[in-house]
Amino acid sequence: MIKKCLFPVAGYGTRFLPATKSMPKEMLPILNKPLVQYGVEEALEAGLTDIGFVTGRGKRAIEDHFDLNYELEHQIQGTGKEVLLSGIRELIERCTFSYSRQVTMRGLGHAIRSGRTLIGDEPFGVVLADDLCLGEGHGVLAQMVAVFKQFRCSIVAIDEVAEEDIGKYGVIAGEAITERIFRVTDMVEKPSSGNAPSNLAIIGRYILTPDIFDILEATEAGRNDEVQITDALLTQAQQGAVIGYKFDGRRFDCGSIEGFVEATNHCHALHERD
Ligand code: UTP
Repeated sequence: MIKKCLFPVAGYGTRFLPATKSMPKEMLPILNKPLVQYGVEEALEAGLTDIGFVTGRGKRAIEDHFDLNYELEHQIQGTGKEVLLSGIRELIERCTFSYSRQVTMRGLGHAIRSGRTLIGDEPFGVVLADDLCLGEGHGVLAQMVAVFKQFRCSIVAIDEVAEEDIGKYGVIAGEAITERIFRVTDMVEKPSSGNAPSNLAIIGRYILTPDIFDILEATEAGRNDEVQITDALLTQAQQGAVIGYKFDGRRFDCGSIEGFVEATNHCHALHERD
């Protein structure tokens, strides 16, 4: 039912400089796999096979990653190393990849708006690849698709965040429908100390209904001339049309050095165990 998934990957990744000076943040690997590949695998598992990237300058490596590399493939053909490419080959076979450019990096809301032509008039997923989500059983996006089938409105993934970190996120206020599902009533982007409406932060997984595009077009840029997705979602929330979903699994903020190291250690421990 939901087929399309948007990956905004145009940001500068300044927290990872100098690594991200000429390499996209989304290509940083956790073990031997780039963050963006984990994200596309999660989308595919949820049944989202039309993958749209909102890219920017210096992001060509992402396009090349989701394409064949004939010389390399010829070189390792018939060797034990071929298996290392089986995962990415499967994605290339089963998904389609489209690209749009965000010409000026004016925030996540603006990046999503720049993906409008890739999506059209249907509900779609959004994955921020620097949030690595490892679901229990099903992946986080697959869990969210199931919630969408029930409520047919925008769904945001939420996670409990420690008080000292809550000011880095969009934070929801909501009425609990079940232990994991909340009807969102308010949202505050990066609340100042003591002003957060809860400890439930929006993380980098969304399912959005397409009316979000018109709302984003009408959303004024705020701080740093950035268009916030939280502002547009608040308009939907005021219509009772946003659900917060506390997913089952773990999320690592790989846009920060601490989260990246934590994710690496976690995945390494899993790798050693298997
Ligand atoms: P972040 O704020 O985490 O990414 O945006 P950033 O700006 O690249 O990172 P820092 O803070 O400078 O280190 C979350 C996601 O939104 C995308 C980013 O690529 C990232 O995946 N994004 C952000 C855009 O595509 N365009 C933007 O204008 C801003």
